[in-house]
Amino acid sequence: MTKRITPLIVGNWKATPQTLDKALKFIKNLDKRYSNVKKKLPKKGYYLAVPDVFISKLSSVSIHGYIGAENVSGISLGQTTGATVPSQLLSGGATFTLIGHSEVRAQGETSDERAHKVALSLQSKLLTILCIGEHKRDKEGNYLAELEDDVKQSLSLVSRNLFTNLVIAYEPVWAIGGDTPATPQECFEVVIAIRRALSSLVGIDYAKKVHVLYGGTVTKENALSFIQDGGVDGLLIGRSSQDVSSFLHIITTCHG
Ligand code: 13P
Repeated sequence: MTKRITPLIVGNWKATPQTLDKALKFIKNLDKRYSNVKKKLPKKGYYLAVPDVFISKLSSVSIHGYIGAENVSGISLGQTTGATVPSQLLSGGATFTLIGHSEVRAQGETSDERAHKVALSLQSKLLTILCIGEHKRDKEGNYLAELEDDVKQSLSLVSRNLFTNLVIAYEPVWAIGGDTPATPQECFEVVIAIRRALSSLVGIDYAKKVHVLYGGTVTKENALSFIQDGGVDGLLIGRSSQDVSSFLHIITTCHG
């Protein structure tokens, strides 16, 4: 199957690496090796979500990628200690953000907070990657309806003209951080459910503008199968984005 768009390859560094120095070395090494790849790659061919404190420095040195945040606050600018709002991230060098990652949800993020985060992030012109995923699957397929509800609720405050800057990442929680990814077929059925939810929210024309990614134990061996057979437009990658060789391998194989 040929894909209609350039795949979005997004890494999620989570709480790594330990120092800014290590982060800088990683980006410089990645960019150098990216430049040496023989295949025709786009000028900028990867996205990396990193700890907030690294964003400004990394975005000033990254040549072939976009640097983004792993989460945002859904409150407005003002008197809230410890919050970093989307417009601040943008001015600090971030071009995108993840929202609603299962590890953030596990820290107590509510659906109401998530809806505000998504709306504010899109209004601030950050490319916004909303993460959804079931904890486990039931034989009756109720998880599909739950995922559709999650999409609808998380996007309830977003006007349809902002959907061009929206990405949805399907990350089954049971596949994150382990050794068993979803199969491309399992991924495909959720992509259809996500597209159905988007269409019912804003109509097919706006729904089509949204990119859908897969995440959860993506490796250099399985990466391409999700793009070829899983119906997604890209990948959200944890551990394999924290190693230059595997991340570059995934970037080059997916840019077919
Ligand atoms: P792994 O690729 O390490 O399973 O992590 C997936 C993830 O959480 C990306 O956001």
